[in-house]
Amino acid sequence: MQADLLITNIGQLLTMDKEGPVKGKNMNDLHVMEDAAVAIKDGKIDWIGLTDEASSIQAVKTIDAKGKLVTPGLVEPHTHLVFGGSREAEMALKQQGVPYLEILKQGGGILSTVNATKQASYDELLQKALFHLDRMAIHGITTVEAKSGYGLDKETELKQLNVAKEANVRHPLDIVSTFLGAHAIPPQYKEKPEAFLESMSELFAEIKENNLAEFVDIFTETGVFSVEQSRHYLQKAKDYGFGVKIHADEIDPLGGTELAVEMGAISGDHLAVASDEGIKRLAASDTIGVILPGTSFYLGKDTYAPARKMIDNGAAVAISTDFNPGSSVTENLQLIMSIAALKLKLSPAEIWHAVTVNAAHAIGRGDRAGAIALGRNADVVIWDAPNYMYIPYHYGVNHVNTVIKNGTVLHE
Ligand code: NIG
Ligand code: FE
Repeated sequence: MQADLLITNIGQLLTMDKEGPVKGKNMNDLHVMEDAAVAIKDGKIDWIGLTDEASSIQAVKTIDAKGKLVTPGLVEPHTHLVFGGSREAEMALKQQGVPYLEILKQGGGILSTVNATKQASYDELLQKALFHLDRMAIHGITTVEAKSGYGLDKETELKQLNVAKEANVRHPLDIVSTFLGAHAIPPQYKEKPEAFLESMSELFAEIKENNLAEFVDIFTETGVFSVEQSRHYLQKAKDYGFGVKIHADEIDPLGGTELAVEMGAISGDHLAVASDEGIKRLAASDTIGVILPGTSFYLGKDTYAPARKMIDNGAAVAISTDFNPGSSVTENLQLIMSIAALKLKLSPAEIWHAVTVNAAHAIGRGDRAGAIALGRNADVVIWDAPNYMYIPYHYGVNHVNTVIKNGTVLHE
């Protein structure tokens, strides 16, 4: 047998090869292969077996994993990848206790990034997005969801979406694009949010036609968009054939979790203050809860999403950085895995499901990302770690040894 790349002497191999999304207590059921080997051909996983059985495989390149942990490339299901500028000055306001929504109300927060994104050229935004993608790759991420939402006008939203589309071509990582034109109310529409949503929905046809996004998302929150406005807007998006997502129940419990289930959203994201009823409905649905504990941490909240309760009730949960310039400024999903262990009380097995198979399903990539399985994209990470429990345990640093994307070694 011939292979392009053969990885041998894998101490622990997590294939995550499951019918997903993986729900409830099944998230704790992890299959670990020891002394394993994986062969890659034409960018796909071609063979999985024991190192002892790999001797007959002729490979162009062989990597001896030296007993380390090997997993699928991490899937990052929620980022605000494309934006101009940065907001380090807001940190002082946060230290003085000014709430996130108050900063936004005063024209800062998301709206200050909107100004910076409007001012940035297409090329500046592209270079910046590529830089952040490099960082994500270095941290073991091989597939990334990317939202617009820092334009809030037609031209700038399209600029962001086009940047994401070009970044997908230019960068080895795969990008899944989401239109988040409904991210905040721009000042000129302050008194007429419905008219603003109407103007954003006028982009649906063009976005669909030019394949600029697969999903439409909205920030359902006090002072931003109500449940009723969100329902109306997302229904329109569905009528155009988009999958939908919601920034739901992040700060105030408005019933966004229930709305995500009602709309058949592929994911409900944040859910930090989801109600018990919302959790029950989520568990009984196909909607995946994308939990962003880095945001609670970074905004200095005491409340973390009830992810434990969600899983205990039977829901499928994914976790993500929420990478953005305001509420969670990190590309390091490994750090978020530690926060998920410490603050959400998830087990290492649950956390690995949350950053692979379930994250892939949360962005419509369950068929090609998030697992090491025959015929799948060869997205593989070798970790400087002896076992899968080690990554959330040893926090705040990068444990990546080697990243392989579609069979190509990106980083070693
Ligand atoms: O997911 N909640 C709304 N949007 C982002 C934050 C965006 C920003 O502050 O720039 C979030 O937390
Ligand atoms: Fe977000």
